[in-house]
Order: sequence, then structure tokens, then C-alpha cells
Amino acid sequence: MSTGAVGRAYPRLEGPAKVTGTARYAVEYPVDGVTYGWAVPSAVVRGRITRIDTTEALASPGVLAVVHHGNAPRMAPGPQPELRLLQEPTVHYRGQYVAVVVATSLEAAREGARLVRIDYDTGPHSTVLTDDHPGLYKPDQVNPSYPTDTAEGDFDAGYAAAPVRVDVTYRTPAYHNNPMEPHATTAQWHDGRLLVHDSNQGASSVRATLAELFEVSPESVRVVTEHVGGGFGSKGYAKAAVVLTALAARHVDRPVKLALTRQQLFGPIGYRTPTIQRVRLASDADGRLTAICHDAISQTSTIHEFAEQTAVYTRSMYAAPHRRTTHRLVRLDVPTPFWMRAPGECPGAYALESAVDELAIAVGMDPVELRIRNDTEVDPDQGQPFTSRNLVTCLREGAQRFGWAGRDPTPRARRDGRWLVGTGVAGSSYPARARPSSARATARPDGSFLVQINATDIGTGARTAIWQVAADALGVPPEGVEIHIGDTTLPTAPVAGGSMGTASWSWAVIRAAQALREKLRDSGPPTGEVTAEADTTEEVGGQPALPRYAYGAHFVEVRVDADTGEVRLNRMLGVFAAGRVVNPTTARSQLIGGMTMGLSMALHEEGVLDERYGDWVNHDLATYHITGCADVESIEAYWLDERDDELNPAGVKGLGEIGIVGAAAAVANAVHHATGVRIRELPIRLDKLIGVSDLA
Ligand code: MOS
Repeated sequence: MSTGAVGRAYPRLEGPAKVTGTARYAVEYPVDGVTYGWAVPSAVVRGRITRIDTTEALASPGVLAVVHHGNAPRMAPGPQPELRLLQEPTVHYRGQYVAVVVATSLEAAREGARLVRIDYDTGPHSTVLTDDHPGLYKPDQVNPSYPTDTAEGDFDAGYAAAPVRVDVTYRTPAYHNNPMEPHATTAQWHDGRLLVHDSNQGASSVRATLAELFEVSPESVRVVTEHVGGGFGSKGYAKAAVVLTALAARHVDRPVKLALTRQQLFGPIGYRTPTIQRVRLASDADGRLTAICHDAISQTSTIHEFAEQTAVYTRSMYAAPHRRTTHRLVRLDVPTPFWMRAPGECPGAYALESAVDELAIAVGMDPVELRIRNDTEVDPDQGQPFTSRNLVTCLREGAQRFGWAGRDPTPRARRDGRWLVGTGVAGSSYPARARPSSARATARPDGSFLVQINATDIGTGARTAIWQVAADALGVPPEGVEIHIGDTTLPTAPVAGGSMGTASWSWAVIRAAQALREKLRDSGPPTGEVTAEADTTEEVGGQPALPRYAYGAHFVEVRVDADTGEVRLNRMLGVFAAGRVVNPTTARSQLIGGMTMGLSMALHEEGVLDERYGDWVNHDLATYHITGCADVESIEAYWLDERDDELNPAGVKGLGEIGIVGAAAAVANAVHHATGVRIRELPIRLDKLIGVSDLA
């Protein structure tokens, strides 16, 4: 019955609205009597507010209120303690929002914020992650609920007995999510009911958090999230901006708009934790892995434990009889780290896929072949077969497309004028999960259909993908289907995160469409509207526990200036096995976006913390460097036609994160091949490569 909408390249449904400027983002809705909020960040790292002087601020033209711990509406304890803003004078990290100024214009609010005088008592602080930090401890579990440590066989004995060994430590800095649209909210209270237009990755969960914090029923909170300018994980749950805005609106009893500045995104909204990762690999003389150990260290805050699953990637990627992984954490006087595209897998794969390259060199074996030799059909961690695992096909097809054959493995062997040229490869994998969702499908008397689900399109094309899935499930051309997402008045749905969105939402939409078709079969052509709903909670929970992952392989060619150490990307090519691809246009965009972000991680991005002030010194896009268009000379993404019926009714594995996993390792491996220098601390800046200089 399929009309074949799934698998076809459709442009984003909201594209015309976005390019003509009629699509509305969170603070673009016109609201009568609206006021503007401006957040005031703490100027100290750790301590207590002893006095807040608001006299000057309140005297400033247009300022209506300065909301702070002394006068803010009270909030209940919530799931994330850092969201209980302005409830107490304690400061846990520099940049924590300690007040919000509300005024009749944005400019007046900003000026008012400048005039708030705050005195603090301060204490000593610790803000830098080190591998000998006295505060290192073992968390009870790592995100979302993995065991902290795993061990099989006898790693120490297996490692000691092996003829080839690699023992290397990699470091990654803090990375900051920088969506184009900052965290932004319009909040209004009417008769005890809260309406917010908010930029987030999942309005259902934001509603639940707001209801909990403000002690109102979920039904009296409505969150509208129609268009979102990116999130990369940082908008995965309710964050400070939405809470601060709702709090301010309650205090002044007027609608409030608040958008964080670019600078204010560095810190309180979360960031990818820095990591220190020791990887030990051992193999026989033929490159067959015998022992794998991955010890990961990362940081959390003093307010909330966020234990990133850095070494989890290593548990399932390659087989070996002796295996161990550990995670250790330090509580620092810093903002709580949070999700950033492939949290855990991304930095973990950088370390493991780099170490595999180092092992291949130690063995004297091609790194593509070494990975293929260590492939496994059974998950080494779970001991069960994968639902599908096409890593080897990705590696082979990628090698063929890239022109890998005949590569001289000798480092620093290829030159192009003053450029040293090298190539690198890395594997990639990311879990293919789904979460319960609900959805509603309605048949209208004119023959058209309406599909409603509180899914979120953060710029990925999710709206379009769901529309395609819905059309096929209803058995009609997509032009006859209208789709509504991004509003908590619609059926509850999970967050756009963890590469789970399309799988989860499609599942519910397909079930609702099937239920509707059954109803219509029984009732004949509708004379009024006929509606059916579905909730996949029982289905999704009842999935067999077989391990399920998307896979990929990255191939990279770089050139490095032999005099300056400048690294440039010649080309980057990825092949992915991610189940069914719903929309080739938006899928490609997700994949090359992830790959570009991996390139950015390898060469550019770095949160630099000044321990004296406990804050990032580079907190804007002028000083926190990200890859720009000129840095990407050629980037290509391909995918296999993978069918995996074990997954979910849509057969999708998700594409949001697989593109970034392993990408930085492929770049780093290529830089080593070009120069003979192994940089184990990202980013690979020219000052770290200065030793490669012909002049040195
Ligand atoms: Mo993404 S870091 O799963 O929102």
C-alpha cells in the first residue's frame, strides 16, 4: 500500500516559511504588553551573595524589576538542581544566573543588568580537570544508566602477554554547543496558567519540568516549540533560560521575552565535558586484538552529577578476550556539563579509533584491514548478536570510493609542494534506540489527513520525515497529509535527541495511521472527522534486548604546511549504515553536519579555562573557533541500503550523531600520516605541529 514517500528526497516543508522570514522562533511571536529580560551572571566562581544593591538599576529608565534570590517567586525542587534559579544566595560556578532584570525594552533591560551591584563572599575553587585530582571518584553509573566499569577475561595478564601493545593517553577540551538560535523564551502567565514559546529539543519534557518547578499541573502549562535553530543536545531538557523567563514573568505579572546572548551560552546551558582517556590495546602479530582497556576521566559540577559515558563506545566496537573499561569523575566548581552531539561516543571514539590507528602502525598492518579483522557479529559487551552490523561494508565501500587502495603507510611520504599530505580512517557507531511516543491521525471528509504529534524539528528536517512516514502509513500521497508538531497541546512525544527522534515518532505515527485505517475500513468513507490515537509505551518497552547500532567509516585526506604546521582538509568521505533513510536530502545534511562538527573538534574547537577566574576566556565565536565553510573543501556522505526489521516499524536507526562519531579520529590519523607526528591532545593546532617544520 506504500505510496513510496519514504526514501524520496523532499525539501523541508517549512523551508519557504524560513527563507521568507514568516517562520517564528521563540522570541519572535508578537505579544501585547511584552517586556524583556536580561540575565545577570555571577562574577565569582564559588561563594555567597552578601548584598544585592538594585537602587541604580531600578532607577534606570524602563526597568520594571530586578528579580533575585531575595524576592523571586519560590520554586519546588526539580529534577535538575541548577534549574532552581534565584532561590538562594549560593554561587556554584562563575556565570550562574544570579538575577534577571526586566524592562520595557531589551536595551533598558541590558542597561539595568549592568547597574545591579552584587557583593559576594568567596572561597577557594577548583575548576581544572587533571588525572591526579584528589576529588576523583567512581560514580554509581554513567549516562544514561550504564555500569560505571566493566571487565571480562583478565586484561592485565592478556595485555602483558601480547607481542604488540599500545598504551596511549588522549585529551579533549571542553566543547561548547553553539546553535544558531540561542536558548530563548517568551513566557506569559494568565490566571495561573503558563504559556511559553521556547527553543528546545522536546516540549513535552520542558512542560513537565516547568510544571514541577512552579507547582502547577502539567495541563496548565503549554509549551510551543514550532521552529528551533539547532540545539546539538544543549536544549535536550528545560534549561536556565526558560526557567528564568517564566520566573521573571511570574514576578512582574507581565509577558517576558528573554534570549541568552552568544556569550551567555558558554557555561550555564552545559557543554561537552573535557576528557582524559587512557587506552591500552594489545594484539597478536596479525593484528587480532587480545586485550582492550579504556579508562576515562571527566568532570561534573558540585550541583548535579553528570557522568558522561565516554568509554561505552569501546565496550561494543571491537572484540577481544580480555577487556576492561572504567569511568572516573571529579566534582569541580563549574557549570554542569551536558549533552553535545553524541555525548560519550564522540570523545570516546576519538580515543579508541586513534589508538586503533596507533596499533595498526605498531603491527605494520593497514588500518582498514585491522578493523575488519577485529569485526564481530556478537556484541562483546552483551554477548548477543547485533540486529545488524555493517561496519565492514562501510569500511570496504568507503575505501573503494575514497581510493584507499595502494596507500603507502609510511608517514610523511607524500608531498605536494610545501604541503605534507596524508590520509586517515576511523570507524563509527552509535546506538539505535527508540522511546515511547504517542500520536494522532485524523481523516477529514475532504479526503485529506491531519497527523499530530509533539515532535520537535530542531532544523534537522524531522517535520518532513514524519510527514513522509505518515503518508506511507496512511497509504496516500504526502500532499494530502498535513502535519502538526511542536506544541504540548499535541500528543506527547519524546525529545529530539540521542538519534531517537525519527524512530520513536514514526513508530507512534505508523500505529496511529494503522488504527485510523482500521476505523475507516469499518465505518466507510467519513462524513465527519474520524480520529485515531496510538501510544507505543508497551510496544517500545517490549522490544527484544538485542544490541542495535548504526555504523560508519570515515576517510580523510589532509595537507599540512611543512613550514607553519597549518592543517587543511582536502577531503572527507563517510559511508554509513543507519537503517532505512527516510529523506536523502535531510539525511545527507545530518551526516555532513556531524562530520563537519568532527572536523571542527579535531582542528578548531577548544574551551580555554582560566583557573584564576574559573571561567572560559573564549566565550564567543570570535575566539572559540569553529569550522567554517572555507575549512571544508570537499565532504561526501554515502549510506548503505540497510534493512533491519528488528528495529522499529520505520526501520530507521537515526542519523543525528553517527556522522560526528569517529570523525575527529580520522582527521587526527590523517595528520599523523601526513607528518609523522601524533598529537594526542585536541585540537590539532599549528603550534602543536610546529615540530614538523622543515625549518625546525
Ligand atoms: Mo543530542 S546530544 O542526543 O541532543
